[in-house]
Amino acid sequence: TWTLDIAAPDWKEAPEADAVCAALMAGDLVAVPTETVYGLAADATNGTACAKIFAAKGRPQFNPLISHVQTLDAALEHGVFNERALALAEAFWPGPLTLVVPKRPASPISDLATAGLQTVALRVPVGPVMRFLAEKTGRPLAAPSANRSGKISPTRAEDVVADLGPSLSFVIDAGACAVGIESTIVGLVDGTPRLLRPGGLAREDIERVLGQSLQGASPDMRPDAPAAPGMLTSHYAPDAAMILNASEVNATDGLLSFGADRLPGADSAQAEFNLSPAGDLAEAAANLFRAMRFLDAKGVRVIKVQFIPSFGLGEAINDRLRRAAAPRD
Ligand code: TXA
Ligand code: MG
Repeated sequence: TWTLDIAAPDWKEAPEADAVCAALMAGDLVAVPTETVYGLAADATNGTACAKIFAAKGRPQFNPLISHVQTLDAALEHGVFNERALALAEAFWPGPLTLVVPKRPASPISDLATAGLQTVALRVPVGPVMRFLAEKTGRPLAAPSANRSGKISPTRAEDVVADLGPSLSFVIDAGACAVGIESTIVGLVDGTPRLLRPGGLAREDIERVLGQSLQGASPDMRPDAPAAPGMLTSHYAPDAAMILNASEVNATDGLLSFGADRLPGADSAQAEFNLSPAGDLAEAAANLFRAMRFLDAKGVRVIKVQFIPSFGLGEAINDRLRRAAAPRD
């Protein structure tokens, strides 16, 4: 683990920086903090390195990966940006937004990173470490969340170590992620801007810049989409069962609360985590995955979740909660 204080002016000069870049260039996996969640990063142009990501995560299928780059200019080498894509990139990069655009045939990003699609998912994160590594290695960095497939995404380095430690050559620890929930993914491929995954940037902010509303994903553009309505893929799953929009709490329950209102029985819960006593959705998003891990570690069998509104970041929070509550195989 390389513990890094990104507030210190000289972190880029630390000897570990060279070692991490050498590891990436050699095709090894490195856990890298971003503002959303910790990513499991590899050289996106190296198919063998990308294959190691799938193996380490235990991903059942070769879902396409997000490639992280340092600037919009770097992104333009890999994807074709129409006017709307440019407007979103200029408004929100660096930030918790991933754009899926047509892939340039000349882009060296491996077919394993794009799952053989003609499109590519690109993101310029706020978190400076990923951008620094992409710039220093001169490679786009493929990175899914650094957790075992289907489990809770990591927002702290210790979560990554607990989940994936042995398959990594480095874990870079820069503290807790500020956003705490994965990036919003917007598809700009077929003339219709589509919300492929709600995330750390609210739909309303994107629609304001576009001057139009985002459509849903067409099935062929969302490899992880439910096969049929009502059949949500289980994802972000704690060991405990999850019950959403709970109306009461029992003494054996874990409670994921939100805001100042108390559910009947709330004070008797075996363990409780309030995502935001003030009812702030950004604070709730930042705490969500840590809270699920916390309640899971208490050994409760059921986690009751208090109602959380679905506007702003609430859309992504409720998406993750529904997946966490979905039937497991
Ligand atoms: O915040 C994030 O987005 C984090 C950090 C590390 O950047 N990354 C992340 O990656 O959440 P991951 O692999 O867990 O989610 C990537 C998702 C895939 O499941 C897939 O649905 C979508 O991005 N995706 C990637 N490429 C795509 C493409 N060409 N077309 C459609 N969807 C794509
Ligand atoms: Mg993930």
